[in-house]
Amino acid sequence: MNAASETAYKRITVSPIAGSLGAEIGGVDCTKPLDDEVFAEVHHAWLENIVIYFRNQDMNPEKQIAFAKQWGDVHLHAFNRPVDGYPEITQIRKTPDMPRVSGNAWHTDQHYRDKPAKMTILFCYECPEYGGDTQFANLYDAYNGLSDGMKRDIASLFGVANGDSRKHQSGYTRAEREAAGFGTIKQMKPLAVNTIASHPLVRTHPETKRKALYIGKHMECIEGWTEEESYPLLQFLLRHATKPDYIGRIRWKPGTLTIWDNRCALHYATDDYPGQYRRLHKIMVQGDKPF
Ligand SMILES: [Fe+2]
Repeated sequence: MNAASETAYKRITVSPIAGSLGAEIGGVDCTKPLDDEVFAEVHHAWLENIVIYFRNQDMNPEKQIAFAKQWGDVHLHAFNRPVDGYPEITQIRKTPDMPRVSGNAWHTDQHYRDKPAKMTILFCYECPEYGGDTQFANLYDAYNGLSDGMKRDIASLFGVANGDSRKHQSGYTRAEREAAGFGTIKQMKPLAVNTIASHPLVRTHPETKRKALYIGKHMECIEGWTEEESYPLLQFLLRHATKPDYIGRIRWKPGTLTIWDNRCALHYATDDYPGQYRRLHKIMVQGDKPF
């Protein structure tokens, strides 16, 4: 549950938006370096609320990269072609004629890497007046909402996540999607990194030490199980984790900067703005090997 109200913040304001997760942060200019005290409070608010956002940020690519580097080294996307001149940034852009929205399935970013990104930093340049929210699910709550018996049964299981699978909702690999006109983000020659990785189904957050379910659309099977055996359990866990009780949603406006914790949250780009335009810039921050 959201615990922000229990913490005293001196330099920033923290206004939770749902019981599950999410808070609007006030009093911070993310386009300038954060001093140690402000950074510590924002960091604390992020860990407590999982997803936090800042309105009215006068951001540009250089400033977004500088903001990201305060949180760690940048995690480069293995497949998506970056913005020209900025290898750290990928663009999420939906034009009115595009048939689908990128990220329109419950997932955690870079699940399929040995060390998935811990944080995603998304800045909105343009969006519809309404629609196009990003939804988030609290994976601590999802874990805590399981029975003791299920917690025991999944405690030692690992799931295999694949970054380029035909199990994508389109039924195509990334290259096939692009060739067929289903892709919304240009692809590049993949980086020379593993894009199939096995991670614990229940992970311990390295900073909060809390346990979270670690599942999502990239996870295809349980290690050592067949896909047929795996599917019912993974489907159940994903349905369970995305119950309305565990969800909060961020409403975008131009100038909104949102940061979230991929170690304890799923997210889902809502496809409810056909014929409209939306453009955001995304930077990810390196994480650790899940345990
Ligand atoms: Fe994503």
